[in-house]
Amino acid sequence: MELIDEGSAGELLQAQTHVWNHIFNFINSMTLKCAVQLGIPDVIQKHGKPMTLSELVSALPIHPSKAQYVHRLMRILVHAGFFSQQNLNQEAYSLTQSTRLLLKDNPLSMRPLLLMLLDPVLTKPHDCLSTWFQNDEATAFSVAHERTLWEYAGQDPRLSNLFNEAMASDSILASKLVVSKCQGIFEGVNSLVDVGGGSGTMAKGIAEAFPHMDCTVFDLPRVVSDLQAGSKNLKYVGGDMFEAVPPADVILLKWTLHDWNDEDCVKILKQCKHAIMSKGQQKAGKVIIIDIVRGSQNGDESNETQLLWDLEMMVTVTGLERNEMEWAKLFFDAGFVSYKIHNVLGTRALIELHP
Ligand SMILES: C[S@@+](CC[C@H](N)C(=O)[O-])C[C@H]1O[C@@H](n2cnc3c(N)ncnc32)[C@H](O)[C@@H]1O
Repeated sequence: MELIDEGSAGELLQAQTHVWNHIFNFINSMTLKCAVQLGIPDVIQKHGKPMTLSELVSALPIHPSKAQYVHRLMRILVHAGFFSQQNLNQEAYSLTQSTRLLLKDNPLSMRPLLLMLLDPVLTKPHDCLSTWFQNDEATAFSVAHERTLWEYAGQDPRLSNLFNEAMASDSILASKLVVSKCQGIFEGVNSLVDVGGGSGTMAKGIAEAFPHMDCTVFDLPRVVSDLQAGSKNLKYVGGDMFEAVPPADVILLKWTLHDWNDEDCVKILKQCKHAIMSKGQQKAGKVIIIDIVRGSQNGDESNETQLLWDLEMMVTVTGLERNEMEWAKLFFDAGFVSYKIHNVLGTRALIELHP
């Protein structure tokens, strides 16, 4: 039998650990989902001070036979930075900045996004990835479910609600950041259409901040037909962005283009260009895109997030996360002449696009 020397044994064992950690990465997602479903962050928040294990166990909606396992769940989540741990008489847990973003009653909560992305309907396609590489299906989602994500959401109200709530929760923080950091972008703008605007949270935030601006949420009829605006400068319009987009000074596309391949994006952008040129005013309007620009942010964590989102888009829809060159090609192919990237939204960017 071949012997392994000291140096290569060390490297081999390190590689073994690296492989193990990657095999088990899904456990990080699933334990976090479990904590959120059990309401652990909410229970600790309500407690108002570090919560001991026994206090936590007795406050959780769990079967008595499972009480003995809670500390193991908490141990990995402490390791992952979701709780901090102090030793009082026994271990006691507090929230971290990340867990605060998962509280039910935090208006900026990412809880709906977590519950959507980790729902079995969305995780199953990842298990079909190698099959997708070997057949001619458009997405791994359709390998798993025999229909597109949009068809699935159209047929299953549970998934549709999960999806719309996830999008809405994301738009609360995004709209606050956009209206506070990018005021200048909306100067002189009298009308805005949020294309693929979902249930309208982003447009609502803009409409509230700029009461003189007429805002329209434009999405598929099934998404917007039952929605009521509740303010006089906001309305909902149903339609298909591949066919026509209502005219406005500004067309907003938040988290919409990353769902689609280049050919479809050029079609959508051409409709948007038509919409900002067709108002009959002297000055053409502009398109504002909120999406990832891959490579535009420094830092390992942001880079990894952008790569993970790119794969999520490949697996669930026909989209991708683009770098600046890939975006620029789309813009010029759709007939726009200039663009400006504003890195004001962390992992995502805001792009101003002019015809
Ligand atoms: C990823 S979501 C983004 C929602 C919203 N912009 C946000 O960021 O919260 C994409 C949106 O595009 C909408 N959509 C998909 N196909 C569409 C079409 N053909 N015409 C209009 N909207 C469409 C979906 O219903 C969904 O609300």
